[in-house]
Parts: sequence; structure tokens; C-alpha cells
Amino acid sequence: MKVEPAGTVEGHIAVPGDKSISHRAVLIGALCEGETHVRGFGRSADTQSTIDAVRAFGVRVDDVADDELIVYGGLARRGGLTPAVDCGNSGTLIRLLAGILAGRPGRFELTGDESLRSRPMQRIAEPLNRMGAHVTTNPLVIEGSDALRPIEYVLPVASAQVKSAVLLAGLNADGTTTVIEPAPTRDHTELMLAAAGARVRRRPSSVSLEPAGSLQLGEVLVPGDFSSAAPFVVAATLLAGSNLTIHDVGLNPRRTGLLDVLERMGARITVFNRRKAGGELIGDLEVHSAELVATDVAGEEVPRLVDELPLFALAAARARGDSRLTGAAELRVKETDRIETVTNGLRGLGVRIRERDDGFEVKGVPARPIGGRMSANGDHRIAMLAAIAGVVSREGVEVGDADAVAISFPGFFDLLDSVSKR
Ligand code: S3P
Repeated sequence: MKVEPAGTVEGHIAVPGDKSISHRAVLIGALCEGETHVRGFGRSADTQSTIDAVRAFGVRVDDVADDELIVYGGLARRGGLTPAVDCGNSGTLIRLLAGILAGRPGRFELTGDESLRSRPMQRIAEPLNRMGAHVTTNPLVIEGSDALRPIEYVLPVASAQVKSAVLLAGLNADGTTTVIEPAPTRDHTELMLAAAGARVRRRPSSVSLEPAGSLQLGEVLVPGDFSSAAPFVVAATLLAGSNLTIHDVGLNPRRTGLLDVLERMGARITVFNRRKAGGELIGDLEVHSAELVATDVAGEEVPRLVDELPLFALAAARARGDSRLTGAAELRVKETDRIETVTNGLRGLGVRIRERDDGFEVKGVPARPIGGRMSANGDHRIAMLAAIAGVVSREGVEVGDADAVAISFPGFFDLLDSVSKR
């Protein structure tokens, strides 16, 4: 797919529902008593994998509309089934579901596509085994137990997926489960479990959960996915004369690190209509173009923009000065090794970027990158990065493996086209 350069991006848009929250609405909805009505559901290949997975366990899910579901619950009462569940490309699904199954008697195998099968699962096996499950990796097999022990677990890496797996297992433990984080990661699991009636205690760097008898969500309103809004935020920032408004975007502070980084670089982004929906912060973003200056991203900030770091590289390429990302080795174990796919991909378009073990260094120039060809390598975030690089380039970008966007955002190219003015 060839993405042509744009003059500006303009207009009013909304993006699909948050992928992280959509996964959790289905998984936690499946654990609940009664019906959970999910509105604003972000339908994508990844979230479809989650619907298919809970259906494989006999949970009824009705598709009311493209962005609306009813999950009938009852997974909490089922055990002993032994299907091999295909989690597709989704790290969130495989790790959270492993946490749930750890507390069910039975033997369960979780598998996925080639990318997912190569991602690290020892990080969930270790705490779940400490809780009394029997989890082996390659392939991921979970022998669950209905007598899990509560643990106090210090996360060795800042990962919301690992934190969530331990908390979901903790629903079935016989005491208080605590997870201590090296840096704050997204907290959608604890927010949704609390909304469902679980006793959750949150502190700045840890979260504790009591075992729960019965959960009830009732309704979940999923905000727009900040990670899907982010490519548009970066395009509007980089294209002089742009003015783009993105409505109803999730603004959970543990997700919006990119806004802080871009503001530090001189971006002009206004947040308005701030409100709360179902425990999550939501608002509208108005983005005007701006000239950027370089900045560094490191340490505790990294998890707050972990999925937007590829886009940071592109913003840095257009900023005056040298920018640096450190402390982001986690990028190497995402859907692709994103340190490698970002640096190789952008370098091929004329960006001066260099790989580090734990991040990258970018020499910014206040001019458009040339363009060329960049492959997504099956990674949805890399496909979107390549496309945004195309609209801000001089000659356009041929995006290889562009279909990968469907993992999180099937309508991405149409929406980008609708706001791109030549
Ligand atoms: C996610 C957590 C992050 C993120 C992923 C979604 C989640 O992964 O990169 O896209 O929904 O919990 P890690 O927890 O592995 O950092």
C-alpha cells in the first residue's frame, strides 16, 4: 500500500475503542455473574481472538453491533475443559487468560501465531507457579489448581500483562495477592475488577486484591484507544498548518506518556471535555502543528508510552537536535523486536536513527524524511508508523504488509486518507 505525502491533516475524527480495555471487558465479563453490556468495543483481529477464546470455554457472547457486545458470563463456574486455545497475535489475551486458567482445575494449552509463540511466557509462568499452578512454556500449558496461594510479587519487568495475570489468578487465591511494580503500568485490570465489585487496594507502586466470590460488571463503556489516536496526533503535529480534533479518547494517565513527551518537544495539543466514564478518564484532543525540539525518554516514563515509542522516533526525526530513548529493552519482545523494526524501517526512509541495546538515538532535522519502502513485518504498530512516515515524507512510503493494521485498527488507512489534505 502506497501512502502519499499530505500537505496537512484536518478534521474531526474518533478512533475505535481501546484494545486493552476491550480485551479486559470480554475476559472479566466472562468471569462475571450475569450479563455484561460492552459499548464502544474496539473490534479488531486481537479482540476477536479474545471473543473466540471465551466462546471456546462455552461462554456466550452476542455481537449486538460492530462496537457493542453482550458477554453472558459463567466462566468462573467452568473448569476441566481442555481445548487448545488459539490466541492469535495477542500477548494481552494469552497472558491474562493464563492468569484466569491458573485457578481452574484442568489442563489448558494456549497457543498463537508465530510471533506470539516466540514471545516470553516465563514471566507469567514464574509467578503463577509460585501461586501453586503448574505452568510450562513452549508450548504454554497451564495445569490449574482451585487452591492457589496468594503471593506478594515484585515484577521483574514493568508489565501490565504480567501484573494482570497475577491479579486475575489472585481472584481464586485464599488470601491477599499483591503486585509491586518497578514503574507504573496501565491499570485497566484493577480499575475494571474494582468496578466489578472486587476488593482492590491501590498504592502508587503496588496493588493488592482480595479473592472474590462473585463479580458483576453490568456495563462497560470503552473509550477511544489512545494508542490508535497517537498516529494521528503525531501526523497533525508534524504537518505544518494541520488542525485535527480526536473525540472521546481514553486519557488514563498511565497511557498518555506520549502527550507529555510531545509537549516537552513543543507540540500544541489541547485536551478538552475531560470527563470520567466507567472509572476511566476520557476527553477530546485538539492538535495543531508545531515545530519540535529534541528530548530524551527514559526510566519510569517508558511504560506510559510503551506502544507509542515507535511514533516518538518519527517525531524525534523532525525535531531540532538529538533525541534519545533508553531503558526500553522491553520493545525487543513486542509483536516484533521494535528497536530493530523501527530503526531499520525509518533508516530506510532517510531518518538518521541508530539502535541501542535498550532504545535508539535520533538526529533530528526540521525537514521531511525522503520516503521509500518500509515493511510492517506483521506488526500493527510498525504498519501505522510507516503510514504516518508516508504522510509526513517528501515522496511517500510504500508500506509492506500493510494489512497488519487489522490487528488493532482495521479502518486505519481509510481514516488516515479521510483527514489527509494534499
Ligand atoms: C498491554 C500491556 C503492554 C502493551 C500491550 C498491551 C495490556 O504490554 O505493550 O500492547 O493490555 O496490558 P506489557 O504488559 O507486556 O508491557
